[in-house]
Amino acid sequence: MTILAIDTSCDDTCIAIVEAKNSSFKILSNIISSQIKVHKKWGGVVPTLAKREHQKNLPIILKEALIKTKNPKGDEFHSSSPFADARVIDLIAVTVGPGLEPCLWVGVNFAKKLAQDLKLPIVPVNHIEAHVLANWLNKKPKTSFPAICLVVSGGHTQLILMRDIGEYKILGETRDDAAGECLDKVARILGLSYPGGPIISKLATRYKIQEIRYEIQLPRPMIHQKNYDFSFSGLKTAVLYNFKSQSPKTRKSILQHNSGLTLSEIEASKKYIQEMCFETQQAMIDVLVKKTIKAAKGFRVKTIILGGGVAANEELRKQFKEKIQKEIPNAKYLIPDPKYCTDNGVMIGVAAYFHRKEATEKLNKIKAEANLRI
Ligand code: KG4
Ligand code: ZN
Repeated sequence: MTILAIDTSCDDTCIAIVEAKNSSFKILSNIISSQIKVHKKWGGVVPTLAKREHQKNLPIILKEALIKTKNPKGDEFHSSSPFADARVIDLIAVTVGPGLEPCLWVGVNFAKKLAQDLKLPIVPVNHIEAHVLANWLNKKPKTSFPAICLVVSGGHTQLILMRDIGEYKILGETRDDAAGECLDKVARILGLSYPGGPIISKLATRYKIQEIRYEIQLPRPMIHQKNYDFSFSGLKTAVLYNFKSQSPKTRKSILQHNSGLTLSEIEASKKYIQEMCFETQQAMIDVLVKKTIKAAKGFRVKTIILGGGVAANEELRKQFKEKIQKEIPNAKYLIPDPKYCTDNGVMIGVAAYFHRKEATEKLNKIKAEANLRI
């Protein structure tokens, strides 16, 4: 079965074509049109701009996806209309939520039009479940249930108890900012580029025991609470207060207005940023690891599953692995390849395959739901 999958839930326009057979998957094309340049100057996603970009990008990347599917080696495409090749598609999958409502609707309406033209059914997909099921992509994981899933992205931070594919219970979630949202906001405070996660990760790895040490200590919000909820807005605020407590010269240099500053003042501010990135990342990892391990033990799970953009973080992946090996060595640990942690159409195709029985031709049933729960 060949699935054409669409995701426009946030700021990436994604289309993938995935061939699925006996729960194994072959990626025929995976196109992601990033909107980073558009949102960069705002330090976060602007929904109206994202919507406009999705509308512009979808027809372009659909064509690209179909061309790649026909010519996986990238040979020149000769047919006058790549849409003729859309006949290989059996099913259309689209993210219906959760996400930014105006953005979701662009994908949903595009999928409906395509389904009408090609006379195909649609499978509506939950974006959070797709982040979890991205783990089923490369190999058929011999997952044993129950499992604990931690989904950490720009829009969500949820701990989910999974009893089977399609059977989920949210144990806890963030009460304010999502983990990725916090990293994006911290990056903005420090004058770094959007999205914050990758750059914070890069700068954190440059942090070593240095001559200049700010000895920054940030809070680990809710780490000792018994529930499985999270809160990251306080972490961001602590970064802001610490930044504001620096001398005007340091602040100026951090934000890269370096004229009139000495080289050592500029150097000092670089070290401040590296230390702050290291401590922010570590504070977040400490909370995520502690609560996930606690849930895993409490529910005696057999598998721990990670997903979402923040799960692309190298240090987080490493520290989770070490902690699981040490504390619950019999548990399996599943985490997608970093490129399938951040938003992509492939994971939507995988989720649609497992929900293929829900495919419908009643297109008026397919609606965007910004606050859809897993
Ligand atoms: O899953 P995703 O692509 O989109 C949503 O569904 O929100 O996640 C995007 C988030 C952003 O906040 C971004 O800063 C974060 O994932 N992110 C990372 C890394 N790569 C992306 N955070 C930490 N380390 C990374 N390497
Ligand atoms: Zn996502």
